[in-house]
Amino acid sequence: MAKTAEIIIEGKSYTFPIVEGSEGEMGIDIGNLLEQTGAVTLDFGYKNTGATTSAITFLDGDKGILRYRGYSIEELAEKSTFLEVAYLLIFGELPTPGQLSGFSGDIKNHTMVHEDIKKILDGFPSSAHPMGVLSSLFCAQTAFYPESLDPNRSKEGVYLSIVRSLAKMPTFAAWAYKNEVGHPVNYPDNSLNYCSRFLKMMFALPAEHYDVDPVVAAALDKLLILHADHEQNCSTSTVRIVGSSKASIYSSISAGINALWGPLHGGANQEVILMLEEIKKDGGNVDKWINKAKDKNDPFRLMGFGHRVYKNFDPRARIIKKAADDVLSKLGVNDPTLEIAMKLEEIALKDPYFIERKLYPNVDFYSGIIYRALGIPVDMFTVMFAIGRLPGWIAQWKELRENKEPIGRPRQIYTGSNQRPYVGLDKR
Ligand code: CMC
Repeated sequence: MAKTAEIIIEGKSYTFPIVEGSEGEMGIDIGNLLEQTGAVTLDFGYKNTGATTSAITFLDGDKGILRYRGYSIEELAEKSTFLEVAYLLIFGELPTPGQLSGFSGDIKNHTMVHEDIKKILDGFPSSAHPMGVLSSLFCAQTAFYPESLDPNRSKEGVYLSIVRSLAKMPTFAAWAYKNEVGHPVNYPDNSLNYCSRFLKMMFALPAEHYDVDPVVAAALDKLLILHADHEQNCSTSTVRIVGSSKASIYSSISAGINALWGPLHGGANQEVILMLEEIKKDGGNVDKWINKAKDKNDPFRLMGFGHRVYKNFDPRARIIKKAADDVLSKLGVNDPTLEIAMKLEEIALKDPYFIERKLYPNVDFYSGIIYRALGIPVDMFTVMFAIGRLPGWIAQWKELRENKEPIGRPRQIYTGSNQRPYVGLDKR
């Protein structure tokens, strides 16, 4: 028998169907709650609200499970590549060798950006945070490809926008960095793979030979896989809600980049390193900082700790911690902040405050340490997250469009003044 839920309001009972997911999760379908009862649900921060059904990513926060299209994150991080994962997320299945080489080839064909985009870049002062530059350049594609504004365009048209997005993102990202340091931009070298191409655009200097270190490129590829999707998080929900108004893929993803920027979301990776540096400068007294994080009168939070969904461990953090060890030893980097991070983790995991609240290191806790070892500057960390998350945003935007979902428009409970007469300026 189909499962149902009963809601009783002022003694009257209403029945609602329960939708079951393929992993047994249950959602009470309150689609006609307002119509039936005159009430809405109230859920600050959508802590208990499913906004959609999705076949892309499965996450079990209690068990620490993350799977893209049914494949475990552990297996993908070990055996796959970023572009293969991108294909999987966007099109639903692992590509055949022919499909993968076609997809990579199409991406290579679109890595150049219109020269006029450089004029937009030139308008930014070098003090501009690269995330702001990235979201602006990404959205600027709407001007260069006006046909992308048509929400009903063909399958081929959507494919072209997807390929352009993946192809140009590393170019925009590297250029945002070049703007910051005041260097001339580099053009994409299409003889290289996705991550190597980005690294060369980031780091090559004019008139100097630059060889990409394969250890660095492989580590970056793994990090991008780990960030590629995470179901209905803040930035992805932003992409879906903007996309639900039939806004273009470029403007929807640009909105997602802005949502990611905040320190409670993707911006945390930058904050973690700044925090570890501050603790180091302060003498490395980890206990003092743990106490600050626990003190409700102190705004300090242990950045890189806690997660809305993971309440046991974040599987990405486990993989990244191990990768941090590997990368640092392969590159011969000795980073004292890694030691501070490990000490913080050890103490926090034994502390009742963190245990009771189920606060564990999240994906951002160790990723900054790797990024730094790879030579990525701190304010580019969130840009790296954005490059990684792009396939997820694309897949979710595409799914929303294919499922013909309605425009996102939450309700509210109004708590302001009741109707009152206007008072003229002379009487105030
Ligand atoms: N340090 C100290 N206390 C914390 C922390 C922390 N990092 N995170 C949560 N708490 C406490 C919080 O004060 C609250 O305590 P109490 O119940 O006594 O009021 C309790 O734990 C629950 O926290 P919450 O803020 O209600 O939980 P949330 O689900 O709304 O927030 C979070 C999740 C990730 C925003 C939060 O844990 C946080 O601010 N962490 C630090 C920022 C961070 O690392 N963000 C990256 C998240 S993972 C990557 C991503 O999503 O992009």
